[in-house]
Amino acid sequence: MTDRILIIDFGSQVTQLIARRVRESGVYSEIHPFNKVSSKSIKDFKPNGVILSGGPASVTEMDTPRAPDELFNMGLPVLGICYGQQTMIERLGGKVETNEKKEFGHSTVAITGDCKLLDATWRKGSQQQVWMSHGDRVTSLPSGFHVVGKSDAAPYAIVADDDRKFYGVQFHPEVVHTPYGAELIRTFTHAIAGCSGNWTMSAFKDQAISKLRKEVGKSKVICGLSGGVDSSVVAVLLHEAIGDQLTCVFVDTGLMRLGEPEQVVELFRDHYKIPLIHNNASEHFLEKLGGITDPEQKRKIIGNAFIKIFEEEAKILGGADFLAQGTLYPDVIESVSFDGGPSVTIKSHHNVGGLPEVMNVKLLEPLRELFKDEVRELGRELGLPEHFVGRHPFPGPGLAIRIPGEITPEKLNTLREVDAIYLEEIRGAGLYNEIWQAFAILLPVQTVGVMGDRRTYDYVCALRAVTSTDGMTADFFPFDMEFLGRTANRIINEVRGINRVVYDITSKPPGTIEWE
Ligand code: XMP
Repeated sequence: MTDRILIIDFGSQVTQLIARRVRESGVYSEIHPFNKVSSKSIKDFKPNGVILSGGPASVTEMDTPRAPDELFNMGLPVLGICYGQQTMIERLGGKVETNEKKEFGHSTVAITGDCKLLDATWRKGSQQQVWMSHGDRVTSLPSGFHVVGKSDAAPYAIVADDDRKFYGVQFHPEVVHTPYGAELIRTFTHAIAGCSGNWTMSAFKDQAISKLRKEVGKSKVICGLSGGVDSSVVAVLLHEAIGDQLTCVFVDTGLMRLGEPEQVVELFRDHYKIPLIHNNASEHFLEKLGGITDPEQKRKIIGNAFIKIFEEEAKILGGADFLAQGTLYPDVIESVSFDGGPSVTIKSHHNVGGLPEVMNVKLLEPLRELFKDEVRELGRELGLPEHFVGRHPFPGPGLAIRIPGEITPEKLNTLREVDAIYLEEIRGAGLYNEIWQAFAILLPVQTVGVMGDRRTYDYVCALRAVTSTDGMTADFFPFDMEFLGRTANRIINEVRGINRVVYDITSKPPGTIEWE
């Protein structure tokens, strides 16, 4: 059994980062919401150690979440982060109080003592830059604990009980604003919880392949291939596991970028020799989208048309026992809500969610334990070209949600040309991998311009590029003016019908990444 760390989630915005840091230390980890954790579930998971996440609640109030009491009698090492530290200290008999002085953002912790959580970097006498986000603080410790780090507003910024292997930090070691936080997490997983750090992509690949062979047996598997990173990795992984028992279906919606449908067919059918059905349904999608301007209606129409075509192809194939999907770990993690209410739908993203029910097949989700960057690593391990593995995320409804208003074949072609120039410039400037997503939007607005002494009355396009770690929040990418000027110039000169280019400098929130 691989070493593993259990992360109990109390609803922090950055809990996923804890899991990533643990995995970066070569240790498998899973996030379980606090209200689903019991002593049985902990025993079943067999963790080498447990990390309690931060959270928005206050342990000074009744009816807020608590760490399970039994956890502290199981002989497991525990690291409590922020709220996690507070609930651990409170459960073990210490005291937590609401502080007059709140601490948000950068802070400095003075290391005043010694314990096994602190390595050479976090040595006694050093000052550590950390990121804090707390209103409450620990004010007295349970017996067995001693304090090893202090900040201005947190006299118990790091506390330790080496005998029981319980540690608490008031700051967030998982965020990049705590520059040496990853070391702290690594010391916890390795030196304290005794994990060996053998969670590698190559080991994961071998395990995944033998698991898939066992699960699938002699059955037939069908996989929807879009050319995005996730479905590409699923397809190649499955092909390596079960060969021609896998058939991929590529529904070409006609809403993809310039040259992408051809690249998908060439790589998967011609290069990998994966049985691939290419259904060119662009006309069908365009017809269905005729006259539609509402973004959610576009999504619905595209999602339904996709499901229908996919199902028909599956029938022609004579059915399949399994449907493979590129579900990732962030899609699986249950988010914890404190007000009990459902979260508001901003956009209905998952437009192929209805497939398994419609087709009455079992689901295969070989990536459901992985984060996006781990999927890319797996893709590299499987030999997929960098061009595919490093690709920016691309939404299922494709260019349809990058053309506000009605979609026409002419508009799609114009947008494709703009988009191709923009991406070519980004790649040429060596910026592609620094950006989470970059794309163009064709606006339903005409403006007056002057080209070669003649008046023009053409369309405006917007360019968008953002940095992000998970698409949940994003910042606009700070291109230099020279880059923007050059790219705008090329677009206006090379694409007919565009006479103005604007750059979107909205972050998310309050904006979203896509315009629709
Ligand atoms: P937003 O626009 O909500 O986008 O900030 C966050 C991420 O989700 C992608 N996105 C979609 N993906 N179907 C998809 O498969 C959709 O309908 C959809 N809408 C947005 C978006 O590209 C970004 O990566």
